[in-house]
Amino acid sequence: MSPPLGRWAALRNRYLARPRTNYRLIHSESVRDCDAVHRFRGGLGITAQRIWLSDLSEGFRGFRILQLSDIHHSLFVPLDQVAAVVEVSNRLKPDLVALTGDFVSYSRSSIEPVAEILGGLRARAGVVAVLGNHDFRVGADALERALRRRRIQVLRNRHRLLQRRGARLYLAGVDDYGYGADLGEAMRGIPEDSPTILLAHNPRLVTAAACRGIGLVLAGHTHGGQVNLPLLGTVYGRSPEKMRFKMGWDRLGCTQIYVSRGIGTIVLPLRWRCPAEVPLLELQPHQRGESSSSLYFVQRSYGIPWTTSTLGIAAD
Ligand SMILES: [Fe+2]
Repeated sequence: MSPPLGRWAALRNRYLARPRTNYRLIHSESVRDCDAVHRFRGGLGITAQRIWLSDLSEGFRGFRILQLSDIHHSLFVPLDQVAAVVEVSNRLKPDLVALTGDFVSYSRSSIEPVAEILGGLRARAGVVAVLGNHDFRVGADALERALRRRRIQVLRNRHRLLQRRGARLYLAGVDDYGYGADLGEAMRGIPEDSPTILLAHNPRLVTAAACRGIGLVLAGHTHGGQVNLPLLGTVYGRSPEKMRFKMGWDRLGCTQIYVSRGIGTIVLPLRWRCPAEVPLLELQPHQRGESSSSLYFVQRSYGIPWTTSTLGIAAD
């Protein structure tokens, strides 16, 4: 069976984008001159992507969400690397920061230090978080308390309402897929057909989100495969589901999803041909019934000699 049209658009975005010089979505000057972006070992990619959402009100046109995922603070990802990412994030001046889980890897002693650094994140509408599978193994309640003390709201099967210029946008968050994710509970009380964004660590939640008509899912978990071998492909995440929703933008029915490659590493202290990523998503209203929409993304890489900056436009 051939993949749906949206899948082809995503593939085209991923592989056929041509180098251009328009970086205004990223505000490249503010990042390029930032020491932190060059201090991040292994290279850091910043992906700016416009996302058109049905039912999004005009009040949220241009609303920018910065996503950080899979930080995995540990010996592999020391605090100076986390601090560098926080500094880069603040330079980008997002409206909202969404943290999509796996803050730590194995040790409970990592919780307080990483929460302390993340407490330095700044965004006009605040910082929200969901927890990942590693967080549950290490200590979900302790992590939730540590983040809340730094004014980071942890959405554990619940939602919050964002209001801007008289418009409304719902932000729902669920626990990890294997640790009690309850989308029904998270969505309880959200009026039907309201613009909603779901934070879910594991991209497998996209199926349930599509059944509920959720506009956008922000996920991580896959690390983009982490090690991407020539010809053989990625080492991690080779199941069909993970192959489909491994990184970047995609769509299932009317539900769009962005899967971040994340920041940290697990098992091996190594990324190869799969650099850490900071996605910056800019929302745009899109009316139902319109015949077409388009994707617009910019990738800007720092400290990665074999990649270039790219810009892609794809109709779907
Ligand atoms: Fe992870």
